[in-house]
Amino acid sequence: MNYTILGTGSYLPERVVTNADMEKLVDTSDEWIRTRTGIKTRHYSTGETGWYMALQACQRALEAAQMSPKDIDAIFVSSATPDYMVPSTSCILQGELGAENAFAIDINVACAGYIYVMDMAARYLASPNINHVLVVSTEQLTARTNFNDRNTCVLFGDAASATVVGKEGSGEILTSILGADGTGGHLLVSKNFDPENPFLEADWQERWPDRFEGHIQKLYMNGAEVYRFAVRKMSGMIKDMVAEVGLTIEDIDYMIPHQANTRILEAAAKRLKFPMEKMYTGIEKMGNTSSAGLGVGIDECVRTGTIKSGDLVAMSGFGGGLTYGALLLRI
Ligand code: COA
Repeated sequence: MNYTILGTGSYLPERVVTNADMEKLVDTSDEWIRTRTGIKTRHYSTGETGWYMALQACQRALEAAQMSPKDIDAIFVSSATPDYMVPSTSCILQGELGAENAFAIDINVACAGYIYVMDMAARYLASPNINHVLVVSTEQLTARTNFNDRNTCVLFGDAASATVVGKEGSGEILTSILGADGTGGHLLVSKNFDPENPFLEADWQERWPDRFEGHIQKLYMNGAEVYRFAVRKMSGMIKDMVAEVGLTIEDIDYMIPHQANTRILEAAAKRLKFPMEKMYTGIEKMGNTSSAGLGVGIDECVRTGTIKSGDLVAMSGFGGGLTYGALLLRI
């Protein structure tokens, strides 16, 4: 179906944190981080909230699309790290932008979130009265990062991204895959919990064993297991999508995958026999920004002309939940 990217935007906080800065926090080294993850720097919020970062990205996307917020029929936000449980980030954006004709939905699908909201946009655009959707992701991962845990703290960064999609134009969504594997939930955990709840009983942990014991608020991850899942899923989904629409891997002009680890991208590229030069890698400068990274990737590729009208672009993501998803787009 017709599905065109009409404008893109992104926002990375100004504060750049290097691997040398991480060496001052935990027992790590620039060499370990670079060779095991590909990350050299990340951008950290120094107070910017998730919704504020998203607002900047949305304004840039609307400007690029030369559209008024009033032209937007729906705002879909993906965030695993929203500022508030209520109100939703999409409602905050709707109000800040003055997008008075838009309804607003937030979802949390962790790092696969951008694929999910792009897919949701396509499905809503199939409805006759929806013409333009503002797809957004914003992640303030530093709010959930355990800066005493070297296994995770060196990986994450903050970012927001936005894409205006519509059904005019020559773009197309050829197919998509969405999936989940809840049996792997324990591999990535961050819990909402109020230890000051006056009705909490002293022995609550013994009486009501938690689904994921021992995790309170900060992000925990079993990196090695997620790594294996990611490589398998990323290559499998791309193969399945091209086969479904009667194309081959060689037909793909460019890939924009979730930015979790350069080694994951290299391993998937090897499995697919796909050249790394045709794969977006923004992780080096921004780290893993969860679902925001894919939108930052689209924005950079559109603005630099790396992807252009007529190109076949494959996107893929995976993350906590576990969740996974992929899209095949004719730009
Ligand atoms: N600096 C130095 N050493 C570190 C370190 C750090 N920042 N973090 C971990 N290590 C150590 C570990 O303690 C371990 O030491 P040990 O063998 O003495 O116990 C060693 O490095 C190897 O750890 P391992 O977990 O095997 O490394 P890895 O090669 O799997 O790389 C990740 C770790 C996290 C980079 C990698 O597993 C990964 O990227 N996983 C996927 C992450 C991801 O995609 N997350 C988000 C999902 S959206």
